[in-house]
Amino acid sequence: MRKLVYYIAVTLDGFIAAPDGADPTGPDGFWPIPDDYLRHLVTEYPETLPGPARQALGVTAAGERFDTVLEGRHSYEIGLKVGVTDAYPHLRHLVFSRTLAQSPNPAVEVVSRDPVATVRELKRHDGRDIWVIGGGALAGALYSEIDRLIVKLAPLTTGAGIPLFGHGAAFAPRTWRLTDHTVLDSGAIFLTYDRVEAEPAEGS
Ligand SMILES: NC(=O)c1ccc[n+]([C@@H]2O[C@H](COP(=O)([O-])OP(=O)(O)OC[C@H]3O[C@@H](n4cnc5c(N)ncnc54)[C@H](OP(=O)(O)O)[C@@H]3O)[C@@H](O)[C@H]2O)c1
Repeated sequence: MRKLVYYIAVTLDGFIAAPDGADPTGPDGFWPIPDDYLRHLVTEYPETLPGPARQALGVTAAGERFDTVLEGRHSYEIGLKVGVTDAYPHLRHLVFSRTLAQSPNPAVEVVSRDPVATVRELKRHDGRDIWVIGGGALAGALYSEIDRLIVKLAPLTTGAGIPLFGHGAAFAPRTWRLTDHTVLDSGAIFLTYDRVEAEPAEGS
């Protein structure tokens, strides 16, 4: 069955963005993007690059991991503010929001339904894996459904910010098995963890 994968850049202290929710990698961003990091994305995760970046870098590869991206409204609006109504035209693109009245782009599906029910429905259909891009609030809402974490651990601390699963996630410890890792010279580490399924209780 296709997996729900939270593929996300994280600081050493567990944050994905500044407290104000601004774009950490934009022109005024603070998140370093070293050359070897960018090369790794282009080679291993080409479909996760936004359309404008793919165009600028001459990337045409379809990628082999994901065919669908799920995005929270705050994250989606970062692109919208600079006129990008669909940053992932090469993927099926769902934006979760209970306030956006209509989609700014016919190719982008605005979903007001429960993200968990939506993901369970998506998983019933064949396809490549489903990428949760974030942000923290959406990932927190989908916490119970995430099968794989691909953490792009940055050699960076911020002291504060938006946590990996947002501010509203419930306390629910889970364990994960490390299934892949790549250490880059620049200090970033790509860590892939698959969720360890809970053992059935004895006698059940
Ligand atoms: N480090 C990275 O790789 C990375 C990747 C992506 C994003 N980010 C950063 O993440 C930050 C934004 O994160 P965030 O946590 O503030 O917001 P977010 O998750 O992007 O968006 C939150 C919004 O999504 C909708 N939503 C969330 N849960 C929902 C649910 N259960 N049902 C329906 N809709 C739901 C709501 O929209 P409505 O209010 O319209 O209902 C909510 O206000 C940005 O700074 C962005 O740059 C970082």
